[in-house]
Amino acid sequence: MGQIIVVTSGKGGVGKSTVAVNIAYGLAFDARRVLLIDMDAGLRSLDLMLGAENELVFDLADVLDGICTMQQAVYELKRRPGLYLLPASQNSGSNALLPQDVRALLEAERDSYDFIILDCPAGIERGFRNAVSCADTAILVITPDYISLRSAERTFQLLTGEGLSDIRLLINRVGARPAVTTDECVHRMELPVLGFVPEDPGVMRAAAGGKAVIEAQTHAGDAFERITRRLLGESVRYKVPHSSLIHKFKTHFGRESACKDSLDGLDDN
Ligand SMILES: Nc1ncnc2c1ncn2[C@@H]1O[C@H](COP(=O)(O)OP(=O)(O)O)[C@@H](O)[C@H]1O
Ligand SMILES: [Mg+2]
Repeated sequence: MGQIIVVTSGKGGVGKSTVAVNIAYGLAFDARRVLLIDMDAGLRSLDLMLGAENELVFDLADVLDGICTMQQAVYELKRRPGLYLLPASQNSGSNALLPQDVRALLEAERDSYDFIILDCPAGIERGFRNAVSCADTAILVITPDYISLRSAERTFQLLTGEGLSDIRLLINRVGARPAVTTDECVHRMELPVLGFVPEDPGVMRAAAGGKAVIEAQTHAGDAFERITRRLLGESVRYKVPHSSLIHKFKTHFGRESACKDSLDGLDDN
């Protein structure tokens, strides 16, 4: 039975779609059968990010409306066999989708895939509830700044309110001088850490070329590869981008560190 993972944040623009594309790509690269679903009705982007915009005929709303079957709507990427994309409707009216209908559809699809990755829209409205209503695991994406942290704290409450308990933190766009240190992010969220992704111009270049950055030999690509391996249950050493020498020393030698408790928690997974 496949695992359903929702990629969420609350705030827009923090990298949810980037994370969803790259972990889906990485899992498919590891010979898993992966369904990637764009839940952002009216503002879909995954088709462009994967260079599949000219290949798609149907979308999620068409499947739920009975216009086509799931098999007709999903598109298997030529460049990455095993990765199937189900686009969101271009019509924001499909925000009218109901969580119970989405849940019934995904429960029926669970056995056909190893992973179903849901790319959540920004905000905490119905599109968010549609995406989280049937997930087993949530990846909460934040950027290291106070606005993102605050919206992630609110999103965390909503996720637990939906009954989700397996929630992992991914800190994206970690630059040389983050507004909030990665240590403080981890401390405040108190969640197991799935990984850190550096700020990397290669991310935008890859997306503009319809590719996943995990295909490229870049810092962000390497980070996504490690994140994928953690999702597959491997214990993979953490690399905090741009961390100070003192921080590296502390985490490497197991000294007391603000990050360490959460990181240890994940290593046990
Ligand atoms: N690690 C990163 N380094 C540099 N740019 C990034 C990174 N992650 C995301 N971006 C860029 O940030 C923008 C928003 O990312 P996106 O994945 O669309 O966010 P969301 O889905 O949360 O709205 C995009 O232009 C994307 O290329
Ligand atoms: Mg997005």
